[in-house]
Amino acid sequence: MSVAIETQNLTFHYLKGTRLQKTAVNNVSVKFNKYEIIAIIGHTGSGKSSFIQHLNGLLKPSSGKVFVNGEDIWKNRTNVRNVRFKVGVVFQQPEYQLFEDTIYKDIAFGPSNMGISDEEVKNRVEEAVKFVGLNRKILNESPFDVSGGEKRKAVIAGVVAMDPDVLILDELTAGLDPFSRDDIFSRVINYHKIRKNTVIFTSHNMDEVASFAEKVLVLNKGEVAMFDKTSEVFSRAEELKSMSLSVPEVTVIFSRLKKMGHKNLPDCVLDIEGAVKTLCSR
Ligand SMILES: Nc1ncnc2c1ncn2[C@@H]1O[C@H](COP(=O)(O)OP(=O)(O)OP(=O)(O)O)[C@@H](O)[C@H]1O
Ligand SMILES: [Mg+2]
Repeated sequence: MSVAIETQNLTFHYLKGTRLQKTAVNNVSVKFNKYEIIAIIGHTGSGKSSFIQHLNGLLKPSSGKVFVNGEDIWKNRTNVRNVRFKVGVVFQQPEYQLFEDTIYKDIAFGPSNMGISDEEVKNRVEEAVKFVGLNRKILNESPFDVSGGEKRKAVIAGVVAMDPDVLILDELTAGLDPFSRDDIFSRVINYHKIRKNTVIFTSHNMDEVASFAEKVLVLNKGEVAMFDKTSEVFSRAEELKSMSLSVPEVTVIFSRLKKMGHKNLPDCVLDIEGAVKTLCSR
């Protein structure tokens, strides 16, 4: 399987060389394969956002390397500029990513900087708007006048319009109601299936992680605590608990049933669908 992104001994200190120096990412070496959906979890302050900002060159490592499609992104200036088009990031609190006077201009901002024709930019914006399910009526409105869910969709549309190989979503659904959460996530997954891109997301919602991620990277105090298939990670509930992380409720229920002596249960049930399958096959 080919590798989309690799980090080698990636370390990053904020306020380096001062009394307030803080190591946010510590010696992280991981490989994310093409077409995978990967979740990054960790207690607040564990370094998820800092790590992510290295993957498109927004932060420069204090030491260590980042490779995108096998190329060291800091090899030269052109590389690091181009990587922003290959790796698209929807940052935590995406409302800060909107700065134009209309939603349309915000969505068009990324592709306009790619050196493509105005016509192509327009087509890309149209496609991206359809993908995220934004009402076209709000395209001429100011980003300050639309709802939180619409703002997030607008930022995703702006990133999708650049057609990146890797789509990174930092706390995409935090603060949204369950309906908007499911809506946005199912659109991202749908896009992933069609575009066959790599998706990396961070979340504090373990049900979301269990339902959508194929692999989970667990960060603890900036270090890799686990990096494995989702079912493997969630079968280590006690270790996760020691890092102030939980597992999906349905996983807890099934591991209790197993402990109570119920036979032929899998080691880890991740979601309701898995629970129904397990119960129906008995
Ligand atoms: N701009 C900054 N200057 C100094 N320290 C920072 C800065 N941004 C983050 N930190 C520190 O770096 C560490 C990692 O922060 P980061 O935001 O990457 O964590 P996180 O896992 O994304 O947290 P959350 O779940 O709350 O989003 C924390 O200790 C944080 O206080
Ligand atoms: Mg964060």
